[in-house]
Amino acid sequence: MRAADWDERYAEAQQWSSAPNALVAELLEEVPPGDAVDLAAGEGRHALWLAGRGWRVTAVDFSAVGLDRGRRQPGAGAVTWVTADVLTWTTTPASLDLVLVAYLHLPVEDGAAVLTRAVSWLRPGGRLLVLGHDLANIADGVGGPQEPAILHSVDRLAPVAELLDVDRLEQVRRETPAGTALDTLLWGRRRALDEGAGGNVPP
Ligand SMILES: C[S@@+](CC[C@H](N)C(=O)[O-])C[C@H]1O[C@@H](n2cnc3c(N)ncnc32)[C@H](O)[C@@H]1O
Repeated sequence: MRAADWDERYAEAQQWSSAPNALVAELLEEVPPGDAVDLAAGEGRHALWLAGRGWRVTAVDFSAVGLDRGRRQPGAGAVTWVTADVLTWTTTPASLDLVLVAYLHLPVEDGAAVLTRAVSWLRPGGRLLVLGHDLANIADGVGGPQEPAILHSVDRLAPVAELLDVDRLEQVRRETPAGTALDTLLWGRRRALDEGAGGNVPP
């Protein structure tokens, strides 16, 4: 979907609850605050939640309408809102403690390029959290995009996982009012800069 399509969706109605995804909240609850980017932040539910916990957060999305919804929420002044395409947006290498990428669905090669760049923005020990609809969700789950080419899977995220010390790379279940949805989770930390593949991420 293009930015204009997302703008149209956000203009019609709020797309997601203002609460963070439960697994995102569970994983990040105990992580001490630092510098974070919420990539494809949409209406900013995660950026706002992180800012409320003391994180310095930049929320990036190409939908100006989605970001405007976030900007109108309480606490929005603590978030830096950036309208940009994640395919080209970048920030200073090794400057972040967290990159969160929730439900961003791109063609596999584009997605891998974006996530590889995201790893390069992390400080050693900084965390990458990727969560999105799993390929198997089409046949065995509910909701979510139905185009196989843009969905996640453990295999598809494996090349990015190789750049990290991985805590979790797996298919996870998410209970919804319509039934069980299947997501893919990648949760890992950037290695020390002189340690293996994670130290050699291109800028
Ligand atoms: C399903 S929403 C998820 C929003 C948010 N991460 C959340 O979990 O609430 C996907 C978001 O990805 C954004 N997006 C898709 N492709 C993008 C791109 N190339 N550059 C920037 N944002 C993009 C859309 O505008 C939309 O806000």
